[in-house]
Amino acid sequence: MSKPFVYGTAVFGENFTDRKSETKRLKMNFEAGVNTILISPRRTGKTSLVYRAKEQISDSSIKIIMMDIYDCRDEYDFYERFASAILRGVASKAEQATELAKRFLSRLTPKISLSPDPTQDFSISLGIGPKTEKPEDILNLPEDIAQRKKIKVVICIDEFQQIGEFQDSVTFQKKVRGVWQLQKNVSYCLFGSKKHMMDNLFQNKAMPFYHFGDLISLNPIAKEEWVEYVTQRFQTREMKISAVLAGKICDKVQLYSSYVQQLAWNVMIEAEEKEVSEQDVENGFEMLIRQTSALFVREIANLTVFQMNYLKAVDAGVHNGFGSAKVLEDFRLGSKSNISRIESVLISKELIDKRPNGVYFADPVFAYWFHREYCCK
Ligand SMILES: Nc1ncnc2c1ncn2[C@@H]1O[C@H](COP(=O)(O)OP(=O)(O)OP(=O)(O)O)[C@@H](O)[C@H]1O
Ligand SMILES: [Mg+2]
Repeated sequence: MSKPFVYGTAVFGENFTDRKSETKRLKMNFEAGVNTILISPRRTGKTSLVYRAKEQISDSSIKIIMMDIYDCRDEYDFYERFASAILRGVASKAEQATELAKRFLSRLTPKISLSPDPTQDFSISLGIGPKTEKPEDILNLPEDIAQRKKIKVVICIDEFQQIGEFQDSVTFQKKVRGVWQLQKNVSYCLFGSKKHMMDNLFQNKAMPFYHFGDLISLNPIAKEEWVEYVTQRFQTREMKISAVLAGKICDKVQLYSSYVQQLAWNVMIEAEEKEVSEQDVENGFEMLIRQTSALFVREIANLTVFQMNYLKAVDAGVHNGFGSAKVLEDFRLGSKSNISRIESVLISKELIDKRPNGVYFADPVFAYWFHREYCCK
């Protein structure tokens, strides 16, 4: 039996809902070779969406290659991950991968081993370092292979913001973009969980990846879709939840994808195989606060008094004009010159989010918890 609700990992099949227009757009981008950048707050569905679009490509001459660079510490880690993912993605057998590596990266001695990952038959290690292949040759590997095999390649890179942490990152980014933008048979889908870093890589005019591709910002999944999903998932367990209470689950967490699923699961546990009551939703929400509070305590542990006061202002409904004399005084934020420093720390900790209409808490459950802990006492 599939799980009724899933949170914390990418979702597939029955646990994936909606995102029809985004899936279509991404699929069309993959087919047409258009570069894509996916940006959204944490845990709202980027990774799930990319897998969904990948599943829908039936043309065997398009190879979609997935890689995650969360643990790459420098550019050589990146080249190693990039080249090995490509070789594994285009070759069905280990021997083919070795042959391709020898042909296109002749200075390397690939090592093939059985993969610890059950979804892969083999893993490949290339030992790339400063004295091996030229970076440009590695970055061009997918184009060389695509031309030779007469295929199109789409490379999807998760946690892409990690490249912003590399030493001499801007030089590296220039090099990468310089090679990638000339490729004719390869396109890229770049996404990552740290929104403010992704924004900086792709929305800042001074950065090499500015305007690299079609920028898709994921909006929340609509309430009607969630209500249908939640009621239907309860039915699979022969339980019942009214549309009103399913809607309440969505409202409590402001349609935030992973929280809708987590709260719905909590409510299912509370309801114990019967019809869900309003009290079950309340209890499920309390459980959610207990589950998240240890993390929230850690997130604010080292904030300064000014930073805490800024959060209190947001809680009180201030979204703009933090530098005005009244807000500075009412919330004891220090001098006006303090504000941008406070904001940049809170944004980098992903506690607040700057939206076109002002500053808001990035996480609706954090907002609730913060209000209860610091503003009601
Ligand atoms: N289309 C969807 N349908 C149902 N639930 C979803 C959907 N997309 C995301 N979710 C929920 O959000 C959670 C996180 O999804 P996912 O890992 O794809 O998000 P993400 O944006 O890649 O997260 P991160 O920012 O941490 O990388 C899932 O476990 C699931 O609970
Ligand atoms: Mg993700």
